[in-house]
Amino acid sequence: MSLLYATHARIHLGNVRDNLRAIRAAVGPSRKVLIAVKANGYGHGAVEVSRMAEASGTAEWLGVATVPEGVQLREAGLRLPILKLGPTFPWEMQAAVEAGVTLAVCSSEEADAAAEAARAAGRPASVHLKVDTGMGRVGVTQEEAPALALRLSALPGVELGGVFTHLPVSDAADPAWTREQISRFRAAAEAVQEAAGRRLLVHCANSGAVLAHESSWLDMVRPGIMIYGFRPDAETPATIPLKPGMSLLTRVSFLKRVAAGTSIGYGRTWIAPRDTFIATIPAGYADGFNRLFSNRGRVLIGGKSYLLVGRVCMDQSMVDLGPETDVAVGDEVVLLGRSGEAEIRCEEWAEKLGTITYEVTCQVSPRVTRVFDPY
Ligand SMILES: Cc1ncc(COP(=O)(O)O)c(C=O)c1O
Repeated sequence: MSLLYATHARIHLGNVRDNLRAIRAAVGPSRKVLIAVKANGYGHGAVEVSRMAEASGTAEWLGVATVPEGVQLREAGLRLPILKLGPTFPWEMQAAVEAGVTLAVCSSEEADAAAEAARAAGRPASVHLKVDTGMGRVGVTQEEAPALALRLSALPGVELGGVFTHLPVSDAADPAWTREQISRFRAAAEAVQEAAGRRLLVHCANSGAVLAHESSWLDMVRPGIMIYGFRPDAETPATIPLKPGMSLLTRVSFLKRVAAGTSIGYGRTWIAPRDTFIATIPAGYADGFNRLFSNRGRVLIGGKSYLLVGRVCMDQSMVDLGPETDVAVGDEVVLLGRSGEAEIRCEEWAEKLGTITYEVTCQVSPRVTRVFDPY
């Protein structure tokens, strides 16, 4: 493969599709599946992941965080319904309505602004009512929810189609708190539907809940991280088989033999303890190859594991190959993914970096070319 920038992410769309099929097999054919494709599909390419899901019939809804993310999907020709998961400023609403993006309405002010946007856009505003049942982020309280449902039902140009909430600890080992939250949400959703006078699409299950809380599946599930192949937390039960959606690869750009005592990189933080071969790779923190990997990370070349030495630079990093090597300039280097029998998993990065897999894949920067596997 000849790429103008050797550092690239391979997106395993077939694996993402298989993950979606595994989710469907678990939740059953009658429930809808919304896939979270916000933040460029957690770094995997929102348009390509959405196209795959639409073409393969493995999802019914797409979830975005911002109006431009929704508009981008429409401009790419996607026809599935799109839900913007968080609140929307009044000045963003008309563009969302014109693009056919369903709004999450979190307050009565937002309800009024949605009606105004519908009038200005000359088409109905589709909305889902967001209830805060314990996330503590956005949404009306359970007590306020029926009144908001009444108001939304009465507003001209506003079409209330769903009611939803978000679960903050569905991925935790102890299921008790989430179980209780789900039953509170079910009661809130009943009250909202009674106030609206009709059935709505009721949903709350993020990946943790898809994996661990069947009572949360309701009318639609909303998985994000698990469609890309990762559990939200090491504690979450692995009830559904998942395959990784991304590998991160580059090539050796420079190779040299250095004498014992030679320093490598900024700050001279690594001094060769023996004569050794050092490979340089064109990947650095501007690619999402975190600087915290300095003297701690590892890469795979030809199925073998090698340590990063010296500081990770903005665009380059160095690898200790040892005193004997058959590695050559141009050889493939795996930063994330499989090489022969060896593998570096996203979970390993997350643990080393003191973060979660979500942040690892989101941080693979736009400079890194995405190469999409056929599916
Ligand atoms: C409202 C909402 N639903 C669903 C998701 C998907 O969550 P996860 O990636 O944990 O499955 C998110 C992601 O943050 C979200 O904000």
